[in-house]
Amino acid sequence: MADFLVKRDDLRECRVVESPPPELESGQALLAVDSFGLTANNITYAVLGEAMSYWDFFPAEEGWGRVPMWGFAEVEKSEAGGVDVGARVFGYLPPSSHLVVTPAGAGEGGFVDGSPHKAALPSAYHRYLTTGSDPFYRADTEEMQMLLRPLFFTSFLIDDQLAEQELTTRGPIVISSSSSKTAIAAAFLLARREGVDVVGLTSARSADFVEGLGIYDRTVPYDEIGSLERGPATFVDIAGDEAVRRAVHSHYGEELAHSMAVGVTHWEDLGGGAGELPGPTPTFFFAPTRVTKRSKDWGRAGLETKVADAWHPFCEWTSGWLGTTPGEGFDAVRSAYLDVLEGRADPANPHVLSLR
Ligand SMILES: NC(=O)c1ccc[n+]([C@@H]2O[C@H](COP(=O)([O-])OP(=O)(O)OC[C@H]3O[C@@H](n4cnc5c(N)ncnc54)[C@H](OP(=O)(O)O)[C@@H]3O)[C@@H](O)[C@H]2O)c1
Repeated sequence: MADFLVKRDDLRECRVVESPPPELESGQALLAVDSFGLTANNITYAVLGEAMSYWDFFPAEEGWGRVPMWGFAEVEKSEAGGVDVGARVFGYLPPSSHLVVTPAGAGEGGFVDGSPHKAALPSAYHRYLTTGSDPFYRADTEEMQMLLRPLFFTSFLIDDQLAEQELTTRGPIVISSSSSKTAIAAAFLLARREGVDVVGLTSARSADFVEGLGIYDRTVPYDEIGSLERGPATFVDIAGDEAVRRAVHSHYGEELAHSMAVGVTHWEDLGGGAGELPGPTPTFFFAPTRVTKRSKDWGRAGLETKVADAWHPFCEWTSGWLGTTPGEGFDAVRSAYLDVLEGRADPANPHVLSLR
């Protein structure tokens, strides 16, 4: 058994530790982690590890954490009814060779991890879906699923909420860190709606990449926010950058219809800003909360079907430009992690890591 650990109070410090293989108790199963994607989203899990309890999903030794990843694993041993050895599942995984789970509600579609330490954590992260009956799954798009699926789910919910609140027709939707997968998927969905104007804010180094995607009506570097036309607008903030947020709020002032705080890709330049910013107070968008709302409205299966229907065209579109930076083993995990942490990753070729 091996784990990739990150120091909680210094995210630049990381190491791999080995330990004896875990013993299974009755009702448990052992997952062998196969592969996962690594993007800024995973860095955010570490940045908000304490504040939003992300460190609690996969406990580690005192002062250290295992950064959650999304990917595929295989059931290596099972003492749990309905969970077969050899089953392949998609879900929330540690950057570890193995994960012990306590499956509950096992059925054709998979199971949820009923481990007691996860009970108080958001249920959106508890499910392990078997590939056979998963409407998202296609064997030839596994890498895209690891990289994009949870982000796309978020983007679907952002697009859905903006439309529900009738913000898509009240001036442009201005998105920061527009080179991120979450922003790209949201812009892709927004661009499919009639009459929506989508502006992508980004760093100078990513401007050509963002422009080339063809889904933003305009691409604007962070230092040119002042060049945007004044009037009503909505801000979807994926960067969380204090200076960018202030610039957008100051530019649109009271005409800013809504400020949605989604991400913190600029994790070293964060700013709260509530109260002292012109315009509306930024409202935190948390995908699991919106999942709960739409699951009530449409049923969980109804929501999954809608997202899966929107997913396949998106996946097809990304296959035209999205590559990967593949890596194998824990050294590759370490180097990819530091690459993303330091903002060096190529937006067109995100990291996919394999441990088997
Ligand atoms: N609230 C929710 O429920 C929810 C759900 C899913 C994701 N999110 C958040 O959405 C954000 C985007 O995640 P993602 O995985 O889609 O990102 P990604 O594709 O890895 O985004 C990469 C982009 O983020 C910016 N960036 C990354 N690291 C940076 C660094 N160290 N310094 C400065 N800029 C950096 C750069 O964009 P620019 O140059 O364009 O700024 C870079 O091109 C994350 O913060 C994630 O947690 C939130």
